[in-house]
Amino acid sequence: MPAISASAPGKIILLGEHAVVYGQPAIAAPVTSLRVKVYIQAAPTAPAGQVRIESPALPPDTTTDQLPPDHPIHQIFNLLCDALGIATFPAMRIKITSTLPKGGGMGSSAAVSVALARGLSQFVGLPLADEQVNRIAFEIEKHFHGTPSGIDNTVITYAQPIYFVRGQQAQLLSIRQPLTLVIADSGVEASTAEMVGAVRQRWQADPAHYERLFSTIGTLVQQARQILAAGSAEQLAPLLNENHRLLQQLGVSTPSLDRLASAALQHGALGAKLSGGGGGGNIIALVHSGDVQHVCAALEQNGAARTWITTLQSTPSKFTP
Ligand code: PMV
Repeated sequence: MPAISASAPGKIILLGEHAVVYGQPAIAAPVTSLRVKVYIQAAPTAPAGQVRIESPALPPDTTTDQLPPDHPIHQIFNLLCDALGIATFPAMRIKITSTLPKGGGMGSSAAVSVALARGLSQFVGLPLADEQVNRIAFEIEKHFHGTPSGIDNTVITYAQPIYFVRGQQAQLLSIRQPLTLVIADSGVEASTAEMVGAVRQRWQADPAHYERLFSTIGTLVQQARQILAAGSAEQLAPLLNENHRLLQQLGVSTPSLDRLASAALQHGALGAKLSGGGGGGNIIALVHSGDVQHVCAALEQNGAARTWITTLQSTPSKFTP
């Protein structure tokens, strides 16, 4: 059995996080410079079925039988056995590496699921189609993250900018001209499930108010979609700023995320907002490409643990959501 490597990118949410859980549209894009990679090789001398995993998230030299039964790795193996119609996997060694920040709102958990589903299905000679990979990653997200919308697993599986509505087929976004985004990590790990749960409690306490906020966010997303297809960065920027204000009203921003967004704007960014679940994680700033270094430096001076630069663009590819 030849060794296999597979990978999956990170992601950002351009607009629409949280409201997307309540049926509003959202826009997300892959960050292909950040990746989870898996490398799988046969272990012919190991006991039958033994799977040894090297991962930054696990103690050294872990085998799957040492993991609790509800560990995501077991869930992935079970879902894959069902999808592939096999009873067990052969003995193997899996190495997982990641350049994605954990708990940083960049889709690290979905990227691990996608890369593993891809790699393991290829390893046994039964490569899964993207649609099946996406379904498995969504099952894992549901199991571990409460009520996910499915946007993370979808954008990461197809590695394309998407317009996404929960429960519907994602649509590829048309982007007229490439846009430059700076991503700044607040350095604070946050649980998306907890943030989504907190918004749910507030929504249950005052549904009318929160539904107005969700629907205003949905309108921004629809406007942004038109602008991406036919407009300019200058037209898109105020929508990002407005989305950040609405996320503040949903209660998911923090002083450090607000500080980063303000610092980006003060130092030449056209627009800025938190991206993802909030409570920590990252902000994104829309910039002219000539201002990238200046904005990154300002973000780092204002508490960013790290910054990355990514380009939002339509990517012709074989993938079709
Ligand atoms: O994984 P994060 O932190 O980027 O958040 C995903 C976006 C949410 O809308 C907050 C949750 C979801 O499932 O859509």
